[in-house]
Amino acid sequence: MPLPNDDRIVALANDLLAQFHKIFGPHPGFRPAHAKGLMLSGTFKPASGATSLTKAPHIQRESTPVTARFSNSTGLPEIPDSKPESNPRGLAIRFNLADHVHTDIVSHSTDGFPARDGYEFLEFLRAAAASGPEVPSPKPIEKFLGTHPAALRFVQTPKPFPSSLARDTYFGVTAFKFTNASGETRYGRYRIVPEAGNDYLADDKIRDNHHYEELEHRIKQSPIRFKIYVQIAAPDDVTDDATIHWPEDRELVELGTLELNSILPDSLVQQKHVIFDPIPRVDGIEPSADPLLELRAAIYLLSGRERRSAKA
Ligand code: HEM
Repeated sequence: MPLPNDDRIVALANDLLAQFHKIFGPHPGFRPAHAKGLMLSGTFKPASGATSLTKAPHIQRESTPVTARFSNSTGLPEIPDSKPESNPRGLAIRFNLADHVHTDIVSHSTDGFPARDGYEFLEFLRAAAASGPEVPSPKPIEKFLGTHPAALRFVQTPKPFPSSLARDTYFGVTAFKFTNASGETRYGRYRIVPEAGNDYLADDKIRDNHHYEELEHRIKQSPIRFKIYVQIAAPDDVTDDATIHWPEDRELVELGTLELNSILPDSLVQQKHVIFDPIPRVDGIEPSADPLLELRAAIYLLSGRERRSAKA
């Protein structure tokens, strides 16, 4: 997983990291975003029709071992699960193809993103940080949302509390280019749907660690399963802008089933070490031209190196 050659992307990645540290404070050894989490292991089994979409190796094999990380938003490693800022929740999945060879999906529980690129996202974070309770209206964030309808839409999208992290849908948000063995290409976005069905709580009166205790309890009873789908773009759909939704009637191709059956006994150690990569880097799944992808790959790598080098 290399850093991009473009110095502007690396500089922007560093500016964004600095902004996260400023907002949430330093928590050495933890992620500056999606800091609270848990790692699990399991398997992925492809659906029979998935080869029509991609020739990727985990679609050719009967079964691939996976590791996955559920997470809460924010850079606060102990954020109570009842805080609205815990949403959107994250699900990152690593398909382990061979020793040190893998491809990942990084997804979250809201279908969309507030900014088209990293510059806009940095502006959004800075405006939010400069809008404390003591700041008179119109606050910088109100001005930003007034001129950025996609960010306003994202902020206003309902983000209900799931009863379980295993009962929410997760979205890959950015599009990828999928190529099958005949060389046919289609653009699509991941959608990861819980087998147990979506289920949300009526209020946020839940224990601080509700979601992680619930997972530990649930997995002792039975495995957690999700269907991984790809929402396919129509020829005219925009594929390089994560703020633009595609109509709900777009075809969903089933990629396969993710089954998680245990929590890693050394979950904290593994979370510190693992660096998920938003770029698939595998034959048959390539990034779209969405500017978020290369930037995020740079940020997650820089941030992961910082985390790994933090003293225990
Ligand atoms: C400019 C846009 C974005 C920025 C600056 C950003 C920033 C970050 C940072 C700094 C981390 C911590 C990485 C690490 O230390 O390993 C992170 C993790 C994460 N981000 Fe983003 N992010 C962006 C877009 C997105 C989008 C579009 C999604 C939804 C698909 C997303 C979902 C996640 C998730 C789920 C994690 C946790 C991954 C893990 O478990 O390691 N992010 N993000």
